[in-house]
Amino acid sequence: MTYPALEVHQLSKRFGGLLAMDAVTFSIPVGSLTALIGPNGAGKTTLFNAVTNLFPPSSGAVRFMGQDMAGLTGARIAELGLVRTFQTARVFPGMTALENVMAGAHRHVRASTALQMLWSPGARREERVMADKAEALLDLIGLRAFRDIAATELPMGAQKNLEVVRALMARPRMLLLDEPAAGLNDSETAELAALLMAIRDSGITIMVVEHNMSLVMGIADQVIVLDAGRVVASGTPAEIQRDPRVIEAYVGQEV
Ligand SMILES: Nc1ncnc2c1ncn2[C@@H]1O[C@H](COP(=O)(O)OP(=O)(O)OP(=O)(O)O)[C@@H](O)[C@H]1O
Ligand SMILES: [Mg+2]
Repeated sequence: MTYPALEVHQLSKRFGGLLAMDAVTFSIPVGSLTALIGPNGAGKTTLFNAVTNLFPPSSGAVRFMGQDMAGLTGARIAELGLVRTFQTARVFPGMTALENVMAGAHRHVRASTALQMLWSPGARREERVMADKAEALLDLIGLRAFRDIAATELPMGAQKNLEVVRALMARPRMLLLDEPAAGLNDSETAELAALLMAIRDSGITIMVVEHNMSLVMGIADQVIVLDAGRVVASGTPAEIQRDPRVIEAYVGQEV
């Protein structure tokens, strides 16, 4: 039996009197790239928060690779392979590009104490393997030459790509990316699009929150549209583009 990567069933989230997410249901096939779109305040980040139990849902169910996520901590969910980035997350200041990428792997460091981390040959070997992997990922986004540069010195586009490959260090089976293209110029956005497609083509399932319609329509296999906490449309990019409810939710915006 093969399961969808992510199944969300009748998921709701209430903040006091506000129903931020209202009976959201969808399914994401393994190996696909799904875009989650919708106006500001639609509940996109709330959905990610509920799926990863940062702010657990008020009702409904989440299954990842067939497994019920109810009651699991965010750390456990990441260990199972569902890894997210944050809308406001940035590179870690005071760390180089390489260190930033390596920081994404920390859940895989098995050495039990700091002392072991520093002194045991096993831990040092593990560190070496991680550094090699981090360098390969820097290569993928064309930043190997900048490995020892402070990450905050890199252009914004490079920093956003760094965040995405940092998430890859955790060996995810699925990535939840919250607005990775925010603040990027056109050429940086194109680079990010290529990176996301390469990740998807390597077999990692992706769900990405994105406001840039041409990016979404260019790379997504499936689009889910949220408005005021509800799924108002879902389908292929072509289907979504001619859906009147979507055009209505995006009044004034070019879809
Ligand atoms: N922790 C919280 N406590 C109270 N209200 C919240 C919380 N998180 C989100 N909300 C509210 O839930 C609604 C949905 O917010 P959410 O951040 O999920 O929207 P969004 O679709 O991600 O918007 P944006 O495009 O601006 O990022 C908003 O009205 C928001 O104010
Ligand atoms: Mg948001």
